[in-house]
Order: sequence, then structure tokens, then C-alpha cells
Amino acid sequence: MKVPLLIALVATARVTLAHFSIFGVWINGQWQGDGREIYERTKFNVEGNFNPPLRNPDWPYIACGTLGHRERPKYLEVKAGDTLAPEWYWTKRGDWETTSHVGPLTVHMAPAVSTGPNTPDIWTKLFHYGYNVTDGLWADEYFQKDATTTKGHHFIKIPDVPAGNYLIRSDVIALQSANVPLGTQFYPSCVQIRVTSDGKAALPGGVSFPGSYKSDQPGIIWDFSRDDPAAYPIPGGEVWEGSLGGGIYGVNA
Ligand SMILES: *[C@@H]1O[C@H](CO)[C@@H](O)[C@H](O)[C@H]1NC(C)=O
Repeated sequence: MKVPLLIALVATARVTLAHFSIFGVWINGQWQGDGREIYERTKFNVEGNFNPPLRNPDWPYIACGTLGHRERPKYLEVKAGDTLAPEWYWTKRGDWETTSHVGPLTVHMAPAVSTGPNTPDIWTKLFHYGYNVTDGLWADEYFQKDATTTKGHHFIKIPDVPAGNYLIRSDVIALQSANVPLGTQFYPSCVQIRVTSDGKAALPGGVSFPGSYKSDQPGIIWDFSRDDPAAYPIPGGEVWEGSLGGGIYGVNA
């Protein structure tokens, strides 16, 4: 009895521990190279060193993921109107699949202030995507569905903000265990960018990590057996009217 049980547990652990983060970024269709520990802050996945989800939205790492307060050496240079597309992965590049993970995507932007990504009210929502009733797919399912060249991608347009260093925070929220408090899985991942154009549309801010996600709010609490995905309330505030938008490859681009 003991041996089969142990094998079953190990097999389960391999699946449930292999979680995802951002490998790198495309700007206007140009691959910017492996961003891990270079311009992408979140603790990355390698075999045996997985990136577990955050479950408590009051935890400081809800801003940029585990150890995401640490500045990385490089900022990717962008201008207003550029398309920035993070590419997600599990343990090696190009291996994106949702398996049992389904849920929405939120994208926020903040100035890269010296007080760090937990500074209250610095975040502004640029884009979000929940559930598409026509296709019957959640945001993260499109990452998987798309052609190889766009696999694992979503994108945003850089808004016309003042020049400076910023963070782009993408968060895939996995809802498959979200029917109980602290069952929701958050995968926040932050990319460092330097905006070289000098626009006038300053980010209004107003969103805080931690602070803006509540562990008991609808949309963080979610029960697939009861709740209607067509009415899914995406957390993290309203999309800023100054946002130039974004999308999911294959649907919006
Ligand atoms: C939902 O999917 C349909 C079919 O792919 C697409 O035409 C539509 O733009 C999608 N809606 C949104 C909001 O992306």
C-alpha cells in the first residue's frame, strides 16, 4: 500500500508545484530576450525551483510576486503607443498550458518609486480580461489556444505618460480553488520599463498592492459550481480612461 501512495503523492506534487511566471517580453513584435532576473522581477521557475502562487492578497508580495521588491539591472526602453507583450511559461519557454488553472488577467502600471511596489495608491489599471461568453474561454485559456508564435502572450499599449522608470504588473488569477477564502491563486509578475517619450497623461494611481484585492470580495471568491462567468467581476479597480488598451493575442490583435 505504501509505495503506490507515495508515487501518487509525488506525481501530484509535480503537477501542482509547477506554476507559472513571465519569461520575457516582446516590444512591437521584437523579442527582448530572457528577462528573468534581468528586467523581470518575479522569482522564476526552473526545474526544482518553482514559483508557487500567492494566496493571501494582504501579503506584501502580492505587488510583484515573491521577492518582487528587488530592483533588477535592466529597464526596457519603450515609447507611448509601443506594444508590450509579456510571454508566460511554466518551467521552460514555450510550455504554457492552463491545465486546471483558469481565470482572468489584470494589468497595472506604476512609477518605479524607491519606496517599492507596495507603496500605497501607486498602481493604475491599464487592462483586464475575464471570460469571453462567445468563445467560452477565460483570459489565460487564450494564451494556450493561440499559435506558437503568440503562445503565452497578452499585450498592452504603453500610455502617453511622462518619461521615467515604471513597472508593468501582469497578474493571472487562477480561480479553480477560489470557492474558499485564501483558495484563490495569484501570479503577479512585474516588468521594468523606461518610458523615453514624455507625455502629459500622468498615471492617476489609486490602486494599492496590498490593499485593493480583498480576500472575501466577489471575483476573488469564486465558485464555478454556482457563479455565472458571464457576470465575473474583475478585481483591481476600473481601467483608466487614459489607457491605450491591450488585449489577448488571437482575440484582439
Ligand atoms: C470574444 O470572442 C469573440 C470570438 O473570438 C471575439 O470576436 C470577441 O472580440 C471577443 N470579445 C472580447 C471582449 O474580446
